Amino acid sequence: MITLHTPICDVLNIKYPIIQAGMAGGSTTVELIANVCNAGGLGTLGAGYMMPDDIRKAIRDIKQQTDRPFAVNMFCAKDPINPNEKKREHEVKDVLVSTGKHLGIKEEDIQFHTSDPFDERFQVLIEEEVPIISTAFGILPADKMEAAKKRNIKVISMVTTVKEAMIAERAGVDVIVAQGSDAGGHRSTFDIKEHPQGANIGTFSLIPQVVENVKIPVVAAGGVMNGRGLVAALALGAQGVQMGTKFLGSKESGIHPLYKKALFDSTEEQTVITKNFSGRPARGIKNTFIEEFDDSGVPPLPYPIQNTATSSIRKEASKQNQIEYMSLWAGQGLRFIHQENPAEMIIKELMGEAEKILG
Ligand SMILES: Cc1cc2nc3c(=O)[nH]c(=O)nc-3n(C[C@H](O)[C@H](O)[C@H](O)COP(=O)(O)O)c2cc1C
Repeated sequence: MITLHTPICDVLNIKYPIIQAGMAGGSTTVELIANVCNAGGLGTLGAGYMMPDDIRKAIRDIKQQTDRPFAVNMFCAKDPINPNEKKREHEVKDVLVSTGKHLGIKEEDIQFHTSDPFDERFQVLIEEEVPIISTAFGILPADKMEAAKKRNIKVISMVTTVKEAMIAERAGVDVIVAQGSDAGGHRSTFDIKEHPQGANIGTFSLIPQVVENVKIPVVAAGGVMNGRGLVAALALGAQGVQMGTKFLGSKESGIHPLYKKALFDSTEEQTVITKNFSGRPARGIKNTFIEEFDDSGVPPLPYPIQNTATSSIRKEASKQNQIEYMSLWAGQGLRFIHQENPAEMIIKELMGEAEKILG
C-alpha cells in the first residue's frame, strides 16, 4: 500500500516527503526555504554560486524563521578543463559581444576567470551546523563526507544514472535524488566527458531502475508538479519528490518577475537542453540568447568558464528587463504552474491531491 509518510520523512525529520530543490541563482530566498520547512517539507538553499559569507548570513536568517531542518545545496564539480580551451576564449568573447550589443555589453565586460571557494563554502556549512547538505555535479570528497557524518549532518546527492546512484551509496550518502531528463535547470551528471550533453534518462525510466539497484532511499525529481506526480513517484518506488520548477513559480521565489511570467505562459514544448549559458547542459525555456549562440556555430566553453563569461549578459538582461537574454531554467511540467501561489499552499494542495488519489 502506498503511504504518504515514507521512511525519508524520518531520516530527514520532515512531515511530508517533499523537497524544494536547491536552485542556485537567487530563486531560493530565505522566505521560500523557511515557509517550505514550516509547511512540512524540506527547504533547500541553492548555494552553488554563493560566496561563503552570504551563505553564512542566509543560514542564520533561515534559522531565525524556522526551527525545522533545512538543506544547503553545493556544487561538487570536477569537470576537466582542457588547456586548449583557453585558446577559444576570444571566439566565445566575439559571440558574446555581438549577442550582448543590444544590452550595451563591451569586450571588457566578458570575463573568464572563475574562482571556486568550495572548501570555504563547506567550512561555513560545518561551522553553522546545517542539518542537511545536498550536492550536485558529484559527491562530497571523502574527507568532507567524514566531517559531515561526524557531526551527524545528513547528506543528499543528486544523480542521473544507476551508476552514479551506486557511487553515491558507496560514498555514504543518506538519500539519493534521481533527476530525470524532464527536470529543469542543471542536473547532476558526474562525468561530463562520458555524457557531454548530460545523461538524459527520463524520470519514469530512471526512478525504478535506481530504486532496484540501491538500498538507500530514492527521491524522484523531474517533472513532478502535483499530487499525481507524487503518487506516481511513490508507485515507482521513490520515497518522495524533489520539485524545482513548481517552487520557482511560488510567491516567495526570488526570480525576475518576467521570468516568473514566462513560466506561467510557457508549455512543455518550449524548453531545450543547452550548454550556452554555463557550459554544462541545463534545461530552460528557449530564447534569443540560446538561438544566437547556437547560430554562431561556436561551441560554448566548459563549465564553469562559460558561466562566468555569460554572467555580465545575464545580469544586464535582468537589469534591463530583457527576458530574451536571461537564463530561464525550467522543467517540462510547465502547464502545471499558472499563478504565484505561496509555498505553503503548493504543499497543502499537493498533499491534498495525493491523498485524494490514494483515498
Ligand atoms: C532554476 C533551477 C535551478 C536549479 N539549480 C540547481 C542547483 O543549484 N542544484 C541542484 O542540485 N539542482 C538544481 N536544479 C535542479 C533541481 O534539483 C531538480 O532536479 C529539478 O528542478 C527537478 O525538475 P523540475 O524542475 O521539473 O521540478 C535547478 C532547477 C531549476 C529549475
